[in-house]
Amino acid sequence: MDAISQLESYREEIENISMETSEELEKFRIKFLGSKNQLKPLFSEIKNIPPNSRKEFGQQINAVKKLAEEKYQSLKLSLESSEQIKEIKNLDLTKPGPTINLGSRHPVSLVMNRIIDIFSRIGFSIAENREIEDEWHNFTALNTPENHPARDMTDTYYIKNDWTHMLRSQTSTVQVHVMESQQPPIRIISPGRVYRNETVSARSHCQFHQVEGLYIDKDVSFVDLKNTLLYFAREMYGPEAKIRLRPSYFPFTEPSAEVDVYWGLETEADHRITKGTGWLEIMGCGMVDPNVLENCGIDPDEYSGFAFGMGIERQAMRMYGITDIRMFFENDMRFLNQFRSVSI
Ligand code: DAH
Repeated sequence: MDAISQLESYREEIENISMETSEELEKFRIKFLGSKNQLKPLFSEIKNIPPNSRKEFGQQINAVKKLAEEKYQSLKLSLESSEQIKEIKNLDLTKPGPTINLGSRHPVSLVMNRIIDIFSRIGFSIAENREIEDEWHNFTALNTPENHPARDMTDTYYIKNDWTHMLRSQTSTVQVHVMESQQPPIRIISPGRVYRNETVSARSHCQFHQVEGLYIDKDVSFVDLKNTLLYFAREMYGPEAKIRLRPSYFPFTEPSAEVDVYWGLETEADHRITKGTGWLEIMGCGMVDPNVLENCGIDPDEYSGFAFGMGIERQAMRMYGITDIRMFFENDMRFLNQFRSVSI
């Protein structure tokens, strides 16, 4: 067959080809588009073509080559879509789907949600605020001016080269934000994360969570505080729970107290957890110092209130028998998966 009819037969072959498998497509590609394709030798035949037809013959070979390329692309597309259709046809809709791996709530969230739930039932609403604070909200407005020894009660993380901003060391900061922006009656709880420059060990961490509470209105008294805390303890630790208040000091409350809940002294663990007293310290509290009210734009002659603040991790540790606070922050699935069935 001469070169011209050979080219013609290739053109026909390409135009009429149809196929069903990707193997056939690959054969087609090798034959007409591969590095040793059938069209290549035709170029060396150009010299045997009469001179006035050579140019046209060359153009025709290129046109056939282009045709092969186009055919290849369209065959590839239609093969792909027919394979997809095949896949869909073979789909077994009665097969069970892949299992969905449900997450579980973090133990800190479980305890936090429980505390929120208890207080929201008596009219407290949630207030949250920033974790990077200024001195005013973390200290000054809370009756802890510069050089006040109470600033050393916590080792604060300051922002480098700044010293006027810090990671908040307590959620009491949220009290200030709320009082600055709204007038009483105020009844809020503020869950959130706080930071302190503490050596990380089984018992303490440089980050943990607190829930802060604040109630400001006319004629709020220490009795209201005590009853609110008793209600909380009974909801949290059972209807028989007993609390005691020990005088203490916080710069933002006067008088201030530390609250213990009776834990019991039956087991060896009870002795260890309560240091042999049977009582467990759960929070700090007090009547909001008039200076704090004034700093936040609330008239202390008209209003009074109480505040309290508690750590979450310690309570979660006691509740679930966790002996190392670091567990909360390591995201070890073997630890977290144990809280799967606990829902609050
Ligand atoms: N902010 C205190 C702390 O981090 C806890 C606290 C104590 C909060 C007494 C209060 C309070 O609102 O009245 O140790």
